[in-house]
Amino acid sequence: MLDLTETNPTRVGLPMPEAEIRAALADARVLRYEPTPFGDAAARRAVSAYHGGAVPPEHVVLTASTSEAYALLFKLLGDPGDRILFPVPSYPLFDYLAGLEDLETVSYPSVWEEGDWLIDLDGLEERMDDRTRAVLVVSPNNPTGAMLRKDEADRLLALCGRRGLAVIADEVFADHVFTDAPSRVRSLAGRDEALVFVLGGLSKSCLLPQMKAAWIAASGPADLLDDALARLEVVTDTYLSVNTLVQLALPRLLALRGVIRPPLMARLAGNRARLAQALRGSAATLLPTDGGWSAVVRVPRHPGEEERVLRLLTRHGLRVHPGFFFDFPAEAFLVVSLLGPEDEFARGAAILAADADAP
Ligand SMILES: Cc1ncc(COP(=O)(O)O)c(C=O)c1O
Repeated sequence: MLDLTETNPTRVGLPMPEAEIRAALADARVLRYEPTPFGDAAARRAVSAYHGGAVPPEHVVLTASTSEAYALLFKLLGDPGDRILFPVPSYPLFDYLAGLEDLETVSYPSVWEEGDWLIDLDGLEERMDDRTRAVLVVSPNNPTGAMLRKDEADRLLALCGRRGLAVIADEVFADHVFTDAPSRVRSLAGRDEALVFVLGGLSKSCLLPQMKAAWIAASGPADLLDDALARLEVVTDTYLSVNTLVQLALPRLLALRGVIRPPLMARLAGNRARLAQALRGSAATLLPTDGGWSAVVRVPRHPGEEERVLRLLTRHGLRVHPGFFFDFPAEAFLVVSLLGPEDEFARGAAILAADADAP
């Protein structure tokens, strides 16, 4: 089997500063329990610094994962039956996360135009009603890699501010960006036109999903923000779910990004180049991206995404994801993870190219 769907960063042979990680976890203070609803002060200061001070430590909330951050925010923002707007194509977990909090999800489309994924902001506004509580954005998006553009961010925040809606900005891939285009927004951290909750975590930033540590960086108009944080404190105080060990280690783990990131970026860029090279001259096209761990390949419509994916699997032992897993608006797209080892990736890319040209 050749697996181009592997997104577990602990299984792809990337070098990690193992001794430093172990040392960060060997903290004598772990024998004491000093619960705090939003998490250890030093860890929150480190997250604030990670965001360039755009959000002060008092407005940082530690969580056990980004998924848990979503759940906490959904508890905070909605009552059963309220609605959350989420982007498509995107990461396919939002229905579950919202459903488990008895919220409904309504998708809003991004459209592929002139080589760019653009949020259909008029379509987004049309989908808002009096039960809508929040709009979710994922930047860089998983799997398209598209980042929010400055004009989109300005319009989105103004719209949400006007309507009293919160913006939840999933920026877990923000450290893994290939573009320096000034039209792209690096982060919504600290924006205050609406209530904004930026999500990030060790899972992607440090390739350490097993540590179970993430955060919410909150900002917004002072009255709304104070009220939201006071309520969120009740929610987090009820669970106190982030373990002491990882809270104590967090500043040192975050500081290791400097050594963890370069080999990852080289892997992502190298595999992208291999894919582009393999597809050149074939019937498949590699879509441009701003960042993230995935690549999107447009393939001929015939024989259909599902048939193609099954054909790749049964004829060639190659595993890729069909676009419909991520709710692409049309056929036919394939999604591959750029994380895997170079040799295996190159062999998979060659198979993809040959298959795109097969009848
Ligand atoms: C866009 C996005 N958000 C959130 C997550 C979940 O991250 P965590 O491990 O922090 O729950 C993922 C995981 O793949 C993701 O792709």
